[in-house]
Amino acid sequence: MNNETMTLAKIRRKKASEEKIVMVTAYDYSGARMAEAAEVDMILVGDSLGMAVQGHKTTLPVDMDAMVYHTRLVTRGCERPLVVGDMPFLSCAVSTEDALRNAGRLMQEGMAHAVKVEGGREIAPTVKRLVQAGIPVMGHLGFTPQSVHQLGVALQGKTADAAINLLEDALALEESGAFALVLELVPWEVAGVVTQRLKIPTIGIGSGPDCDGQVQVFHDLLGISEESFRHVKRYAEVGQVIRTALTAYAEEVRRGAFPGEAQSRHMSEDEREELHRRLAEGEN
Ligand code: KIV
Repeated sequence: MNNETMTLAKIRRKKASEEKIVMVTAYDYSGARMAEAAEVDMILVGDSLGMAVQGHKTTLPVDMDAMVYHTRLVTRGCERPLVVGDMPFLSCAVSTEDALRNAGRLMQEGMAHAVKVEGGREIAPTVKRLVQAGIPVMGHLGFTPQSVHQLGVALQGKTADAAINLLEDALALEESGAFALVLELVPWEVAGVVTQRLKIPTIGIGSGPDCDGQVQVFHDLLGISEESFRHVKRYAEVGQVIRTALTAYAEEVRRGAFPGEAQSRHMSEDEREELHRRLAEGEN
């Protein structure tokens, strides 16, 4: 087990040495423990928890309190990976003061090491201010789930124009001090160009293999999510394993097979005899 704590400098060095960066989302203590045991480099406490944990259809209903709560569960469960807390819908866009206060909560209360913000040039001044305040920021371009009602769940940067626009956003985020950039649902070729042009690492999701690293949603790659997407590889069918186990448990409880001898404890023989003697004598 690698016990080395991940830092921004090490993440940067991985790009320089062309070592792929591994990131996964987690939303609680046990997820973080498992991700750490798998030696991932970074954990994202994504606002995808809106779908994965809270049962919403989008990330939009997720608020700061939920992000702080889940980030704290994750940071309690791991020591080595760099933990990035997601800035939820409108937590950055209203004012820089708001963004500073909200990002500060993720770091002070949630104990995150960095925050992630969605958006391009329009958010760059805020990113700069956060970085100046000592808050490491990861950017997020391409399909940005908080804009789902504007974009739909669709590949972004499909035309040369759109690709150049995306590259300009990426360069603006780098210039503002972002330490890394998520590229979500971007064509392989476009992600490759952006990765080549940036000094900071790109972390892809549905953006092909040329990114400096990859991120996947915990519930997707483990096969817990009921819905699947083309960019997801299900490395296990944990949801099916859990459903099978719960069905077996329910069936055993109903027919009286659980708990059995192995899961039960007995009184000593002396105490049992004493109990029956006293019950027979009419005590209670
Ligand atoms: O919220 C999230 O999990 C994300 C990833 C999909 C990158 O933003």
